[in-house]
Amino acid sequence: MSQQKIAAPKGVSEYTPPRSSAFEHVRNCLIAPASKAGYQLIELPVFEDTELFKRGVGESTDVVSKEMYTFEDRGGRSITLRPEGTAGVMRSVIEHGLDRGQLPVKVWYSGQFFRAERPQAGRYRQFYQVGIEAIGLDDPAIDAEVIAIADAGFKALGLKQYRLELTSLGDAQSRSAHKVDLLKFIATLQLDEATAARAAINPLRLFDDKREEMKKAMADAPLLINYLSDASREHFATVTKYLDALGISYQLNPRMVRGLDYYTGTTFEFVHDLLGAQSGIGGGGRYDGLMEQLGGQSLSGIGFGLGVDRALLAAEAEGVIGQEAFASDLFIIPLGDVAKLQALTIASELRVKGKRVEVAFGDRALKGAMKGADKSGATYVIVLGESEMSSGTVELKEMKSGASTSVKIVSLFEALNK
Ligand code: HAM
Repeated sequence: MSQQKIAAPKGVSEYTPPRSSAFEHVRNCLIAPASKAGYQLIELPVFEDTELFKRGVGESTDVVSKEMYTFEDRGGRSITLRPEGTAGVMRSVIEHGLDRGQLPVKVWYSGQFFRAERPQAGRYRQFYQVGIEAIGLDDPAIDAEVIAIADAGFKALGLKQYRLELTSLGDAQSRSAHKVDLLKFIATLQLDEATAARAAINPLRLFDDKREEMKKAMADAPLLINYLSDASREHFATVTKYLDALGISYQLNPRMVRGLDYYTGTTFEFVHDLLGAQSGIGGGGRYDGLMEQLGGQSLSGIGFGLGVDRALLAAEAEGVIGQEAFASDLFIIPLGDVAKLQALTIASELRVKGKRVEVAFGDRALKGAMKGADKSGATYVIVLGESEMSSGTVELKEMKSGASTSVKIVSLFEALNK
């Protein structure tokens, strides 16, 4: 009797060939600008003490109150699969004393994150982010640099139809001045119990309510941007000045509140025009009180998380992701055992020099092997038979045009570079 098949859990994103190559390409594009700017890899556990997210991300957020994958481990500890990356980075930086060394601490990360959301296109229960965090510097120039790094990743991928939304959530002084008026305003609204409870923990959350009646109710609510302290206003003005100088365009969105409670000051989101409801392809901002809240010293921080799954969907929607980006440079078809041996040698030499080379094994007939070459999307193909080996010359065929040129085997590398 045949066994029943087992399916993946509902709502997870997974990538199998050939689309996994596109995914890899997207992830590499998004993270490359960070290492070029001196950020170093931080590799963290995917599960943490539940308390970290409760305290770090905030109990008024949907992420903590409704979406965490929390369970008790065999030792009776409450464990949560990480819903985001910033809290874990802070935990690790404090635990390993990185904040006692050279500042800012600049790290990047990439991996799976988990939120028990209702799955839909672009919204998954396990999804991928690449992110960076810069800790211990409150110079507005680093805000601009962090935003520029995210933007460079999207540009490297070839995305065009996205915009950057920007605001400032101010410092503690700005927020407490605003909170007085916001609470007065909220007291005039008829709120259901759950919403009132959320507002009591963090009244800013009401700006994030997606229900039409709430959007209407909040239309005249006082905006934090009008309550910025002098220091916060100046910081934000300097960030926008730097962004202008870098040629990075943005739209001010004073109603933006992000889905996590730790944000302060400069806050931003990248929104893609072709993705429908799940249009946020990345977001981030300052979190100047977070380290202290997690038991560390009082250091500021800023960072972002970019959604790799959504960036892939965006790249596909814009048609900017072609197989060329990750296909092999050369596909070798050996005919017979001796040729197979030489094909292996040629391939490994070219790979050492940085070329992507595939060899057709399995003694398929030439026609079938050519089909394989075609399917692989490789740029060039060569057939290696007895006559090629004895003359030391192959026909280098460009797959797209069908044009071929005679090339000495020893000069293949140079020919591929032409
Ligand atoms: P976030 O906005 O919650 O920020 O997530 C960042 C990005 O992850 C989103 O813009 C989106 O592209 C992607 N994302 C979030 N949830 C899902 C989902 N369910 N399915 C697919 N993609 C998703 C953070 O997580 C912060 N830690 C970013 C940050 C770093 N802020 C400062 N430093």
